[in-house]
Amino acid sequence: MSTPPSLSPEEIRAHLDALRAHDLPTHGGRTLAYVYDSGLAEADAIGREVLASFSSTNGLDPTAFPSLLAMENDLVGVAGRLVDAPDGFTGVVTSGGTESILLAVLAARDGRPEVSAPRMVLPTTAHAAFHKAAHWLRVEPVFVDVDPVTKRADPEAMAAAIDERTVLVVVSAPSYAHGVIDPVEPIAAAASAAGVRCHVDACIGGWVLPHLRATEPAQLPWTFEVEGVTSLSLDLHKYAYTPKGVSILLHASAELRRTHLFASARWPGYTMLNTTAQSTKSGGPLAAAWAVVHHIGGDRYVDLARTAREAALALSTVVDGIPGLSLAAQPDSTLLSLTTDDTCDVFTISDEMLDRGWFVQPQMRFRDLPATLHLTFSAATAASSDLIASDLADATAAARAAGPATPPAELVAMASGIDPATLDEATFAGLLAAAGLAGGDGALVLPERMAAVNALLDALPQGLREVLLLGVVDRLARPAS
Ligand SMILES: Cc1ncc(COP(=O)(O)O)c(C=O)c1O
Repeated sequence: MSTPPSLSPEEIRAHLDALRAHDLPTHGGRTLAYVYDSGLAEADAIGREVLASFSSTNGLDPTAFPSLLAMENDLVGVAGRLVDAPDGFTGVVTSGGTESILLAVLAARDGRPEVSAPRMVLPTTAHAAFHKAAHWLRVEPVFVDVDPVTKRADPEAMAAAIDERTVLVVVSAPSYAHGVIDPVEPIAAAASAAGVRCHVDACIGGWVLPHLRATEPAQLPWTFEVEGVTSLSLDLHKYAYTPKGVSILLHASAELRRTHLFASARWPGYTMLNTTAQSTKSGGPLAAAWAVVHHIGGDRYVDLARTAREAALALSTVVDGIPGLSLAAQPDSTLLSLTTDDTCDVFTISDEMLDRGWFVQPQMRFRDLPATLHLTFSAATAASSDLIASDLADATAAARAAGPATPPAELVAMASGIDPATLDEATFAGLLAAAGLAGGDGALVLPERMAAVNALLDALPQGLREVLLLGVVDRLARPAS
C-alpha cells in the first residue's frame, strides 16, 4: 500500500494554484455559463468564511445540529415568500437544481402509487435534469415540441399529452437553453383539471424574476400564484450568488412533500431519516447561503437582478446589428440564446470568443431547434457590456470569414454508421483517431479549438452524441497513474 506524501500548506496552495490555471474564471463576468458573480466582494467573503466554518457540521440529523435546521427553515420561508407560496407550504434545501428536480419527480411518482407505468409531460426545452430523473426513477418522459418562434411550451399540445398515466407536468421559468418563461397558467390549469401535479422549474430564474417584477409588470405569471402549481425549484447557487451546492424545492403543502421523505428503521444502526437524496451532508453550503442571502438582502437583489437583466437586454439589441447573428428567442430574463444564419456557426463563434477571453456556451441542435450560443448574464458581466458586444461582433465576423465549420463527410459517414447500442472500445478508438483526437499512445487529446468536434457531434443523432460524449468522459475521468 502506498499513500501520498504529506505536503505543507504552501506546497498545497502552489499545487492547487497551478491546477486552477486551466480553469475558467469564476469572477470578473467573463464566464457566461456555470458561474454567477454578484461583483460584491464582501458577499463572497462572508460566504467563503461561513462555508468553511460550517464545513464539518452534518445535516444528517436535524436535532444534532439545530443551527442547520433553523437556517434551512429560514431560507425555505424566504424563498416561499418570494414566489407566492400558499399558507401551509413546505420545502427542503438540496444540493442543487438536479437534486431538487429528482425529488420533485420522486414525490410526484410516489404520490400516485396506483399508476404502474408513470409518465411525465415536459416541453422539449425542459432541463436535462428531468431526463435524468426520468431515467433513474423509471418515469417515462413524454416530450412536447415548443413553439418554433417563441420557444415557449405549447399549452394545447401539453394539455393533449396528459393522460391517465401522467403523474407530473413540467414547465420552466425560464428555460435554460432559450431563456423564456413557459405559459404556466394554461398548462398548470390543464394539469390541475386532470388531477396531476405541475412543477415549475425556476432553478435559474427563481431568484431573479421576482426581483424584476416591479419594473416588468408584463412578466408572464409563473409562481405559486398560478392555480395548479404544486412544486417549484429555485437555486440559490445561481442568482442568489451563494457558494455552490444549494437549491430549494418548495411544495404547495406538507402532503405533497411527504412522498420524497425517507425513513428506514430496518437495520441495527440509527434510524435513517432523510428529506433529500443526501444523508450525511455538509452544513457548509446551507450556512453560506443563509449568510449571503441575508448579507445581500432584498433591495440589493433587486439591483443585481436589474443590472444583469439590463446587460442581457443591451446585448440583445446589439445582436440585431451583427451580420450573421440573431436572437433565437426574445429573452424573458437574464439569459440570451443566439443563433446564426448559414454564413457561420455557433461553434466557431464560441471558439473565437474564448480567444478573446469570454466563455459563451455552445448548445447543439435538437429536433427543429437550431444550434445556439447560451449566455448567462451575472451582475458582474454588466461592467463589460460594451466590450462583450464589440468582441461578439468581431468573433462573428471572424467566424463568417472562416465559413461554417463542416466536419469531413467521411467522418460523418463513419460516425453515423455506429450503432450507439453496440459501440465498442475499438470502434470508438478508431473514430477518435480519424477525428484527430488520439495522441500517439491512443489517449484522448482534446483540441484547443472545439468547433470541428462540436460540428461533427451536432451533425449526429442525439443517441449517438450521448454515447460518444460518454466515451470521452469515460476516458477523461481515469485515475492518475
Ligand atoms: C432551468 C434549470 N433547471 C435545472 C438546472 C440544473 O441545476 P444544477 O446544475 O444546479 O443541478 C439548471 C442549471 O442550469 C437550470 O438552468
